[in-house]
Amino acid sequence: MPIVCEPRDRAEHLIRSVDGHVVAADSLAVAAQLLERDPRETLVVIGPDAPMPEVLGFASALRVSRPAAGVVLARDYVDVTLLTKALQAGIREVVPADDLEAIGAACRRSRDLSRRMLAAAGTDDRAPSAGREGEIVTVFAAKGGSGKTTLATNLGVVLSQGGRLRVCVVDLDLAFGDVAITVQLDPVRTIVDALPMAGHVDTTGAASLLTRYRQGIEMLLAPVTPGDAEKIPPKLVGELLAVLRGMFSYVVVDTPAQFSEHVLTAMDASAHHVLLSTPDVPAVKNLRVTLDMLDMLSYPKEIRSVVLNRSDSKVGLTAEQLERAVRSPIVAHVPSSRAVPISINQGTPITLGNPGHPVSQAITRFAEEYLLGGPATHADRQPRGRRGRRSA
Ligand SMILES: Nc1ncnc2c1ncn2[C@@H]1O[C@H](COP(=O)(O)OP(=O)(O)OP(=O)(O)O)[C@@H](O)[C@H]1O
Ligand SMILES: [Mg+2]
Repeated sequence: MPIVCEPRDRAEHLIRSVDGHVVAADSLAVAAQLLERDPRETLVVIGPDAPMPEVLGFASALRVSRPAAGVVLARDYVDVTLLTKALQAGIREVVPADDLEAIGAACRRSRDLSRRMLAAAGTDDRAPSAGREGEIVTVFAAKGGSGKTTLATNLGVVLSQGGRLRVCVVDLDLAFGDVAITVQLDPVRTIVDALPMAGHVDTTGAASLLTRYRQGIEMLLAPVTPGDAEKIPPKLVGELLAVLRGMFSYVVVDTPAQFSEHVLTAMDASAHHVLLSTPDVPAVKNLRVTLDMLDMLSYPKEIRSVVLNRSDSKVGLTAEQLERAVRSPIVAHVPSSRAVPISINQGTPITLGNPGHPVSQAITRFAEEYLLGGPATHADRQPRGRRGRRSA
């Protein structure tokens, strides 16, 4: 039962604003005892009479001991200083004490976030825990339309293993991201909402940015408003990826068709670079340039996988000619099929809608052979970024 902490008669007022039954505590010490007795409780509403230093101490401690639990703070006066301190202590929302509706809405949002965080922790038997972080997989091609988004979303599906593993797909194509539309998600929350968290992103903050796709798969969607892409500093991307790596077994990053600072930040944090090409001369040339660039930046070759999309297109280039041209083995061949655009128009990745299709099989085989490893190798595959830019 949610805990409402308010010493005076105003407790009634607060209690009415929270949906369902609540338990009242007349001090933060009592609230802490109640929480201890109910390890599954995820919401504490603190009224305006609780002294601020105590509130901040309570929230900071709770953030560490029960990260999925949320604190909603009702205050008579709300100013920037109070908001900043509250944010730093991990309080989820600060609302005016006389606005019942706002308190109710804040409580619903906090409980929804807690539910998602707990679901995240509960569905993944290989969820990253102390000392074991998830792996970031960046899918890149320097030529537009190579199939990055198709591969990234389908890898998200395959890597989640039917919801057994926790996967996050990050749309880093900040200006023209189409992950949301590809899987028919409404981008209510996007990476732009991370801007106020810059410098202090934590798991609660990161979880609040995500959109659930299906069991085991969450997505961090790209901005929808023109101009928002430029507001995202590359450093924030690095910060978000570092936090997401701690929350998911796999973080699959879809990218734009250019070597932006954001892409390089993702590459730095990645345990796998999946480089795509199609069998046409400009795409192969761009792949060659990409590989040269990655070499120049001292990214290790061992984390690289070259994947050929539309590999059976009859355009005159054989796989051998391609391998010679890019001086790299092609580890997966994804055939061309009308079923791919059809799956996108239907909003269901082909590996989900038609797992037996040759395209799905090729992507699944690639994920199983090159990305999904046993626990022994899992720990070894930590990011090995560019020299001097190694991510935290
Ligand atoms: N194996 C395939 N067979 C047939 N069509 C494909 C295949 N892979 C991708 N496509 C189609 O090619 C188009 C481009 O794919 P996608 O959007 O995944 O590429 P992208 O690299 O993300 O493009 P952009 O650079 O614009 O972001 C889509 O219409 C998709 O349906
Ligand atoms: Mg794309």
